Amino acid sequence: MRDIFDAIQRSAIRIKDAIDVKDIGYSQLENSSGETQLQLDIQCDLIIQEEFAKVSSIHTIASEEKEKEMVLNENGKYFVAYDPLDGSSLVDVNLSVGSIYGIYEGEFGASHMVASCYVVHGPRVEMVFAENKTKLYLLQNGAFEFVKEIRLGAKGKLMAPGGTQQNWAPYHKKMIDGFFSEGYRLRYSGGMVPDLHQILLKGGGLFSYPGTSDKPEGKLRRLFEVFPFAFIYEKSGGGAIDGKVDLMTLGHSHIHDTAICFFGSDYEIDRVKEVYAKMHEQTKDKFELYLDEMIQKLQACQKRKLIKAVVFVSLTLGALLEMSM
Ligand code: AHG
Ligand code: MN
Ligand code: MN
Repeated sequence: MRDIFDAIQRSAIRIKDAIDVKDIGYSQLENSSGETQLQLDIQCDLIIQEEFAKVSSIHTIASEEKEKEMVLNENGKYFVAYDPLDGSSLVDVNLSVGSIYGIYEGEFGASHMVASCYVVHGPRVEMVFAENKTKLYLLQNGAFEFVKEIRLGAKGKLMAPGGTQQNWAPYHKKMIDGFFSEGYRLRYSGGMVPDLHQILLKGGGLFSYPGTSDKPEGKLRRLFEVFPFAFIYEKSGGGAIDGKVDLMTLGHSHIHDTAICFFGSDYEIDRVKEVYAKMHEQTKDKFELYLDEMIQKLQACQKRKLIKAVVFVSLTLGALLEMSM
């Protein structure tokens, strides 16, 4: 694990340099050395791949920028899924971005996660690493220094509501509006790394990315966005759910699968559970009413058919009797 931790730190320092380059993100042209200028996301992916290739305990990697997983060492025991540059569209406007890592043992999957980590590239470079506890590190003169352990409060003040509001379900909108009318303040940059980092460091609140009419299964990817943050929030004393169940109990069928997700402190997570449970109950009630109605219609239909059949049989029998007489 130490080797992976070191490789993440080396990658973070190289990614910082890649972000600092003047024309990254603006061109697809050749750079001064005659090399093709790679898009920043791909460049960061290659940096991490290179650093992980030096770590013999890593079996396989999966990245947001790679269609398929890639085996590095047949004898390694760790499976690492990562988003090399989350929120990369924010680089152009100089907002914070980050890298996210989920470290799994034996195979990919929430139940196999043993550690998780993210790096925030903001005015300063910070790293949060969670194994049994959540720890914050700061990049100082080329090396990461331990700053403190992170714990979430029971209730926060910040709200980061993701997804296009126009496409939210009415009960979700009502819930978010309810938080704002309780005094929560909006803190949403469009980058889950700085948004979740802010909630974590300011004691609590809620980050949500619900299912929307255009994205019913949410937008954020399970293996390298959702599970790593769920792990970090839970290790910090908060919660992470999909509206109903703990995110860490979810499975996945493909490395790029998404999930609806809520991360926060206990108070806000409990509220989400209440609202979503009520909604599920109402949907269930509506569905049951609909089912009852359909059964009645079917029964009525069958009754009509039965009457028709009885009339038909009696008429046929009558006609036959008449013929035989
Ligand atoms: P990425 O840049 O890796 O594709 O991910 C961006 C993600 C995440 O960081 C952020 O929370 C979310 O997209 C924002 O989505 P909306 O603009 O739909 O709210
Ligand atoms: Mn991302
Ligand atoms: Mn990304």
